[in-house]
Amino acid sequence: MAHLKTALVVGASGLIGKNLTAYLQSLPDWKVIATSRKPLPGNVETVTVDLLDEADVAVKFATLASVTHVFYTAYQDKPTWAELVAPNMAMLRNVVQTIEKVSPKLEHISFMQGYKVYGAHLGPFRTPAREDDPPIMLPEFMTEQQRYITAAQQGKSWSWSAIRPSVVGGFAPGNPLNLLSLIAVYASISKELNVPFRFPGKPGAYHPLIELTDADLLAKATVWAATTPEAANQAFNINNGDLFRWEEMWPKLGRYFGLETAPPVQLPLAEVMRDKEPVWEALRERHGLQYGYEALSAWPFGDFVFSWDYDFLADGSKARRLGFHEYADTEQMFYRIFDQLRAERVIP
Ligand SMILES: NC(=O)c1ccc[n+]([C@@H]2O[C@H](COP(=O)([O-])OP(=O)(O)OC[C@H]3O[C@@H](n4cnc5c(N)ncnc54)[C@H](OP(=O)(O)O)[C@@H]3O)[C@@H](O)[C@H]2O)c1
Repeated sequence: MAHLKTALVVGASGLIGKNLTAYLQSLPDWKVIATSRKPLPGNVETVTVDLLDEADVAVKFATLASVTHVFYTAYQDKPTWAELVAPNMAMLRNVVQTIEKVSPKLEHISFMQGYKVYGAHLGPFRTPAREDDPPIMLPEFMTEQQRYITAAQQGKSWSWSAIRPSVVGGFAPGNPLNLLSLIAVYASISKELNVPFRFPGKPGAYHPLIELTDADLLAKATVWAATTPEAANQAFNINNGDLFRWEEMWPKLGRYFGLETAPPVQLPLAEVMRDKEPVWEALRERHGLQYGYEALSAWPFGDFVFSWDYDFLADGSKARRLGFHEYADTEQMFYRIFDQLRAERVIP
């Protein structure tokens, strides 16, 4: 059967890009091309490119005339919010400017955002956040990316969609924003050291409402928004559709790992977990685990997520009103991904 659409997944080795690539490959009417500097699982046509290098993008994208849909999930992590802007804008600009030139069939550019557009990373924000909430003061790279895409699209035949997940449940080694694997590694080390599974966040972060986004659900929503005409040129909050509090979820996660829970004690993970590499390496050797400590040490992200002593949620009903009706059970998502991490020998 002839492929009707050609996807270019930009950042396909990442936590979000990996699942999106696999989902697109499972659909009958898509040809998938991926950019990645790391080897990718499965049989996917891969372009190895440095997205920060405009000349490299021009050379490597020169043959991509068949691309109809760009799924942009690339990301450069930096120590401050302001420093995120320059590299993340440069990568997106290099992709958009080049693909516009080389692909006459371009129909859509999808790009990944998050609740940072609502200022969720800075402190309490209006909840549930809605897609039409007024913007926060810049610098904030996701908002700047949307401004750029909106301006670039003017007068063009392609459309865009911006996808705003909460913290994403999935796994990619080396990913700096990897909540579920960091919880799994933290639990495995707690077990090895024979200490209870303590919530390590701010005391006030144990109680507020929070929601997550399953990477599989996110992939479906992203493709839905990119192919639904009524969804064109808009942003969508995408979340599992249920809410939880760590105070309820944490003991359940402890039980999954066979661990007792003790009351929370604030532990700065970036500091406390720094010297745990030998513990991990011993586990790795004993259980034949795939990855070294470095690839799994997203501890600053743990400190960040576990510092949210305010509700962290956005209204996901806009996508549902326009026809995206999938959801995920967050507790089951935790168990499913932990099972996968075990099966793939990421954790014992
Ligand atoms: N993870 C979450 O929980 C979450 C939640 C909400 C929103 N988001 C947003 O979603 C986006 C993607 O997040 P993610 O967690 O999937 O990120 P990620 O796992 O770090 O993936 C980033 C991707 O970008 C690629 N990349 C970075 N610099 C590159 C360069 N110079 N040239 C080529 N490729 C480059 C990486 O490829 P290499 O491996 O080759 O470096 C990787 O494939 C980000 O904007 C993030 O803020 C993430």
